[in-house]
Amino acid sequence: MGRVVVLGASLTDMNLRLPRLPRPGETLLGGTFFNAPGGKGANQAVAARRAGADVIFLTAFGDDDIARQIRTHDEAEGIDLRYAKTVAGASSGVALILVGDNGDNLIGVAMGANASLGAVDIDALPDDVFDQGGVLLVSLEVPIGAVAQAIRRAHRSGMTVVVNPAPADPQLGELGLLPMIDVLTPNETEAEALTGMTPDDAADSLRAQGVKSVVITLGGRGCLVVTAGSRTIIPAHQVEVVDTVGAGDAFNAALAVALSEGRTLNEAASWASAAAAIAVTKPGAQGALPSREAINRLSS
Ligand code: ATP
Ligand code: RIB
Repeated sequence: MGRVVVLGASLTDMNLRLPRLPRPGETLLGGTFFNAPGGKGANQAVAARRAGADVIFLTAFGDDDIARQIRTHDEAEGIDLRYAKTVAGASSGVALILVGDNGDNLIGVAMGANASLGAVDIDALPDDVFDQGGVLLVSLEVPIGAVAQAIRRAHRSGMTVVVNPAPADPQLGELGLLPMIDVLTPNETEAEALTGMTPDDAADSLRAQGVKSVVITLGGRGCLVVTAGSRTIIPAHQVEVVDTVGAGDAFNAALAVALSEGRTLNEAASWASAAAAIAVTKPGAQGALPSREAINRLSS
């Protein structure tokens, strides 16, 4: 079984589905609402677990009922929360998500307790979080100090480091972290924010700055995988799109699981495309994340 250590935010998603996305200043009626556990870190932890890995989740919960419910939910998924912290007096993080009928979305995040994660929390972790192999999977809805320290420790211990730069943060370059990253997985917008370039050039630029391999996700067009010796487009599966929230998380988690099992990056990205395609066929983030069996069925 593969092993994935996930660092990232745990949030509550307030999902509002509308006939279309409203314009600034406009009030739109006709929506339907549900809330559910979310946050890129939590989604990736759940997705990696469902895809078949042992998962340790490094995150911060608020000191409120909603956080207690989410903890119980994560534990029921089989995620190891031994090192997740609860921040006294803090509220849980929240994401407000608007989804239009064509599946497009707008998301705003209040980090809540996640904002309190720092390098000191990563320093306090025992060595066996990092020295037992596998993959570190990091997203950027938590403070960069914690992210940087986790990348440094995982790289030093020989883990495979996968960074999903969502949302994009130029400090990855400024702090000298790029050469410690085995696989960087921006979407097109994030690739442009990090380099000012279109996907093809962005991948080359990021590799020139030290990232070993780059996977740029291209939404319904699939993904571009660039390694030292290859450049491959993996097309997306043709599916009926309901809601793309969490597609990137399903993709990143399955990629990390496949890499932790020793598959090549192209094999991993192909398997991840199947996971993400399933995720876009259902509403919400975690409710849409597929099982290992479902991913295998679509990818075979
Ligand atoms: P999110 O909507 O979760 O923020 P993202 O912007 O991080 O996603 P995308 O590039 O939109 O990432 O999508 C990630 C992957 O999901 C794609 O590389 C593709 O494999 C799959 N995917 C996204 N949209 C579709 C689609 N319409 N049909 C099939 N697969 C899709
Ligand atoms: O990637 C999807 C996630 O981004 C949502 O679950 C929401 O919490 C936002 O952070």
